[in-house]
Amino acid sequence: MTPKKKIFVTREIPQVGIKKLKDQGYRVIIHRGENPLSKKELAKNVKEIDALLCILTDQIDKTVIEAAGANLKIIANYAVGFDNIDVEAAKRKNIMVTNTPGILTDTVAEHAIALLFSVARRIPEADRFVRAKKYRGWGPMLFLGSGVKGKTLGIIGLGRIGIEVATRMQSGFDMEVCYFDVSRNEKLEQEYKITYEPLESLLKKSDFVSIHAPLSPTTRHLVGLKQLKMMKKTAYLINTSRGAIIDEGALARALKNKWIQGAALDVFEFEPKLVPGITDLDNVVVTPHMASATQETRNKMSEMAADNIIAALSGQQPPNLIR
Ligand code: GLV
Ligand code: GLV
Repeated sequence: MTPKKKIFVTREIPQVGIKKLKDQGYRVIIHRGENPLSKKELAKNVKEIDALLCILTDQIDKTVIEAAGANLKIIANYAVGFDNIDVEAAKRKNIMVTNTPGILTDTVAEHAIALLFSVARRIPEADRFVRAKKYRGWGPMLFLGSGVKGKTLGIIGLGRIGIEVATRMQSGFDMEVCYFDVSRNEKLEQEYKITYEPLESLLKKSDFVSIHAPLSPTTRHLVGLKQLKMMKKTAYLINTSRGAIIDEGALARALKNKWIQGAALDVFEFEPKLVPGITDLDNVVVTPHMASATQETRNKMSEMAADNIIAALSGQQPPNLIR
């Protein structure tokens, strides 16, 4: 009898994917615990497995990949972003890498839009105010925020999620949408009536800037001190992609000195920490990297990661192979 194929799962995820894997007769080992595994622990765990199902806080770098045994066929990331994995190092060892695109697009877009409204209408700040029993009665100047309808939205990164945010804000709130992307796409511009702007002019004209780009050497610190100074004093910055696309130290200065009106962040440069001072400011809304966190979407992500593994271990090309 051939030994059962072994899958290592680095964190408890919704059962549906785990069940799929077990139904294949695989042995599924789940690391239970809240703390991400260290690189050393990861390297130890990849030695004798056939598939790795990992999450975005696992740093699957060259050392971890080089420690993998000859059986390791696939690294299935439980995320759409895969900046935590050294894909080139994996390719050199013929290990496939997959992600979970598409199924979380609507969910992340909804969170980005929720953040946009939260910061524009100061909802978390107002909630804190009421809870602190500071509300003494209606006031003409109480919690003045900014309107959204008809304003200009600048999307950085026109992928699936960026398009979803753009089209909903166009049709729902008559927003004027422009975008910047490291690769311009004229077909999408025509299809969705979104205009391309170089980053500098996008920052100068937008009332809201929402980031939807993957993290790469090209996008790291794409929005730094210089870029923040180009934004309107009345503008808001929203980020649901990866924290390090913004120079967070520079953002703290921009918010403190009111170079921009506010920011809403679901992702931080050094998660789980934020640079000191940011949470002392009232013009910031922060959520703990939860933009894809709905029950439905997390179930789909679990299934999708499992399907990628099943395909790879049956000698097929996984549906979401990263090339
Ligand atoms: C979440 O950040 C993801 O990339 O899926
Ligand atoms: C991710 O799904 C993207 O392309 O925006």
